[in-house]
Order: sequence, then structure tokens, then C-alpha cells
Amino acid sequence: MSSPFEPKIVAFVCNWCTYAGADLTGTSRIKYSPNVSIIRFPCTGRIDFMLLLKAFAQGADGIIVSGCHPNDCHYTSGNFHARRRWMVFRGLLDFMGIDSRRVHFAWVSAAEGARWAELVNSVDAEIKKLGHYDSYQKLVGAGIV
Ligand code: FES
Repeated sequence: MSSPFEPKIVAFVCNWCTYAGADLTGTSRIKYSPNVSIIRFPCTGRIDFMLLLKAFAQGADGIIVSGCHPNDCHYTSGNFHARRRWMVFRGLLDFMGIDSRRVHFAWVSAAEGARWAELVNSVDAEIKKLGHYDSYQKLVGAGIV
């Protein structure tokens, strides 16, 4: 009997808000899915969205990008740059045939530990419904990764 599908979710988060919020989740002892791996950036504005494609190529089934709420970015406007990039990137996902439900863009502050847990759990549930992402070869064949 095979074990149930446990998705690999990669979370690209900013240091100042979402990473601190995720830390609060832990210190508050709020349980959430262990299927997420967090990669910390100084700011969501520093996240090259090509890294998201590389994460898929390396076996990720779902991705979270999360940072400070609008007007709370510690670098003033990094989160607005990230949001604009996300709007363009969504179009690229469609073009590449990647279901955009596999990528979630969110705002989680340092005080929102419970929100982080809810976000991870909801993404985990959605990716479980979508199943494993197995188009690695498509990305490699297209010369993207
Ligand atoms: Fe958090 Fe810019 S520092 S999004």
C-alpha cells in the first residue's frame, strides 16, 4: 500500500514580515503542515521569479511567495515590485502550461503567526488536490532551467 501524497511546497518569504510571522507560528506552538520549506530573502522585491520555475524543476509541487503587507515593506516598495512581477509571471505560467493555482502570493506580517499556518495549510490542501507536479522535463526541454 502506497503512502498518501505529501506535496513539496517551497515558500519564498521576506525576512522582516513573513519569516518573522512563520517564526511566531512556531513559538506560539501553532501546528501547520510540515510540507513547506522556507527560503528567506531580505525582501520580496529581491525575489527573482525565475527561481520559482527552478523550484518546480527541482521537484516543488507548489510555491508560496509572501512578504509584508502593502505600505509595510521595510524597503518602502519592494512588495509592490514583487506584486507587479507576480502579475506578469502569472501570464508566463499560463503560457508555459503551469497551473497558476500552484503558486500563491500572499501578505503575512510578523504578528500573523496564525495567518501563516492557515496559508500553509490551505496551500497544502490545494496542492494535494492538484497532485504532483511532474512537468520537470517540459521546463528542461524548453531550456528554461
Ligand atoms: Fe517584506 Fe519588503 S521587506 S516585502
